[in-house]
Amino acid sequence: MDKPLVSNRALLMDALAGLRAKPKRMHPKWFYDHAGSKIFQRITELPEYYPTRTEISILRHEIDAIASYVPEGAALIELGSGASTKTHILLGALKTLDAYVPIDVSGDFLLSVADDLARAYPALTVAPLVGDFLEDLALPSATDGAPKVAFFPGSTIGNLEPPEALDLLNRLRSWPDISAFILGVDLVKAPRTLILAYDDPAGVTAEFNRNLLHRMNREAGADFQTEEFAHDARWNAALSRIEMHLVSRKVQEIHLGADRIAFDEGESIHTESSHKYTRNAVEDLAAGAGWHVAEFLTDPDRHFAVTVLVPAQTRSA
Ligand code: SAH
Ligand code: AVI
Repeated sequence: MDKPLVSNRALLMDALAGLRAKPKRMHPKWFYDHAGSKIFQRITELPEYYPTRTEISILRHEIDAIASYVPEGAALIELGSGASTKTHILLGALKTLDAYVPIDVSGDFLLSVADDLARAYPALTVAPLVGDFLEDLALPSATDGAPKVAFFPGSTIGNLEPPEALDLLNRLRSWPDISAFILGVDLVKAPRTLILAYDDPAGVTAEFNRNLLHRMNREAGADFQTEEFAHDARWNAALSRIEMHLVSRKVQEIHLGADRIAFDEGESIHTESSHKYTRNAVEDLAAGAGWHVAEFLTDPDRHFAVTVLVPAQTRSA
């Protein structure tokens, strides 16, 4: 047999650890190669996927309140910026911003979006950073000495496990000259609304989920027959999260690098959790990392919240 082609050792190592574990799991950050970023864009346009349009409408309605937390000459640092669609609402209102730093793991997608932004806002320094926001990233020199405002929309924080979310809030809190953190969170609501948003009838979310298998085939020497895994979205009430799974339709074995991984019929790979928050949960998370929730801005149906966190007066050590 030909040696399997492995172009992404980090993905292979993480996949081996995740697929040898019981239950099997993968980290959701691996969804986002160029193809995954494009499919996510299609998800944001689905009628069932309410978070994007709801957050955009809150940002538009509340832009003056939000802008009041951004000091003159600030650097705006966006985590998981993707297509930077929501950024335009902020950039349009924040005329005195010095620098914009979009951070994303989806490298070529990020760089092409950053090129377009630099052309659209010639007076702004656009300094993209390809990297994993779960790690300690060195910010570009364009932000040195500037007051910093972090922007983390989309409820991507919901894709982090609670300890990862707390760790991220702690790291942002320790950035020099951090002034505010604009954070989008998806709120707890009726499970049927949530399930539809993560299992749309057109099958775009299923395609997004299966792209993980395609990506392992392309980059980690795997040979998944992707249609032999069913997309499944489940509401886990105890942990307040939607879970996405890929469920094996039969007993099967796949290759991964030089290894083999066995699946029982009905056995799943847990590919993503999307935690849904309450106001109390956001306040507790923020307080645990030295932040105070200064604004909690919602839509009339209270489906989503754009929050503004500021450093708490006294910080526990
Ligand atoms: N902010 C956009 C995109 C959200 S999709 C919006 O609100 O619509 C989540 C984005 O986060 C993707 O672009 C993905 O590539 C990026 N991402 C996910 N995990 C990441 C990680 N660990 N480090 C950096 N970027 C990550
Ligand atoms: C990026 N993230 C916040 C999305 C979410 O809603 O958890 C990813 C996604 N997964 C399925 N649909 C969208």
